[in-house]
Amino acid sequence: MFAEKIELILEHLWAETANFTAVESMYDEPALFGVTDGKAVSTYFEHKFTFHLMERYRFGAGNSANGIDLLSLNVDIKVTSIRQPQSSCPDKSALQKIYGLGYHLIVFVYEKTDDPDARTGRLNMLHTIFVDKHRTADFQMTRGLRQIIENDGNADDIVAFIQDKNLPVDEIEARNIVEAVLHEPPLQGYLTISNALQWRARLSHRRAPWTAWNGCADDGRRKEQNVLQFGDFQTSLDLARDVCAVLTRRGISPGAIVEPTCGQGAFLQAAAEHFTAARHMLGVEINAAHVMDARLRLKNAARVEQDDFFSVDWDALLASDPGP
Ligand SMILES: C[S@@+](CC[C@H](N)C(=O)[O-])C[C@H]1O[C@@H](n2cnc3c(N)ncnc32)[C@H](O)[C@@H]1O
Repeated sequence: MFAEKIELILEHLWAETANFTAVESMYDEPALFGVTDGKAVSTYFEHKFTFHLMERYRFGAGNSANGIDLLSLNVDIKVTSIRQPQSSCPDKSALQKIYGLGYHLIVFVYEKTDDPDARTGRLNMLHTIFVDKHRTADFQMTRGLRQIIENDGNADDIVAFIQDKNLPVDEIEARNIVEAVLHEPPLQGYLTISNALQWRARLSHRRAPWTAWNGCADDGRRKEQNVLQFGDFQTSLDLARDVCAVLTRRGISPGAIVEPTCGQGAFLQAAAEHFTAARHMLGVEINAAHVMDARLRLKNAARVEQDDFFSVDWDALLASDPGP
């Protein structure tokens, strides 16, 4: 009797990724002996991993037309050798360098060794990286644009920057990008995407402590731990707006707003839009990357402090932030 399969969700995927790579790294495969073609290795690994998931879970698999392997989770699987960690985007648009690929990535990075005596090949899995779809933009491009916005740069500064970076866009596209960036500054991306729209994950990033990386941990287990330990689920701006709209309809109109674990600030932004009588808004968040995102999106609308909820001197903090 087979156990009933359960619906695959991201948390299962992170756990299975960790289990699978640990086993695969010890496994000697005769079919891999002498294989040097990266595409063949990647197909072998992807099929085996997908089959491993299919035995245990229900999920919608993608196809070659949409190019996304785990369609129901909006996750694409990439398997690359440490020697050539490159892949091309299935969907090509310059905007992806700024706002990301539109889907999450699981990147498996391996080093292959052959055993000539046993005539087997082994994939030593060096890294498994989960990159949240919001973090799949180009590192340098998003960093530069975010700095321009932080330094009160204007449309001309953004046009000059994207020209400088040789982003392949015409004048109209450039103007659209400027408007989008001014309206919604991009989140910091963690891929390196060339103008030919080939990308690779930044494996040697210096700012790699996983607690500071929303959705972009340097292995699946850490991401899972981040979610479990810090409850790191960010509310979407749409949902936060709906919640604030309901409260506004009920006549709620606060004079001051405090959010003790504000994350990337979706609720503070929605509150700023709806509660126009609120004179003061204060957010506290432990994760440095979230604090930066919240500050960028909120500008002067709210004060956001990086701190631990449990060690904040709330009396002093609230006293330093004048009430209504
Ligand atoms: C469920 S998320 C909610 C974020 C935000 N309020 C929202 O709705 O989008 C919880 C947030 O609390 C933060 N957090 C966890 N422990 C914290 C602590 N001790 N002090 C401050 N923030 C913390 C996490 O980093 C995460 O961003």
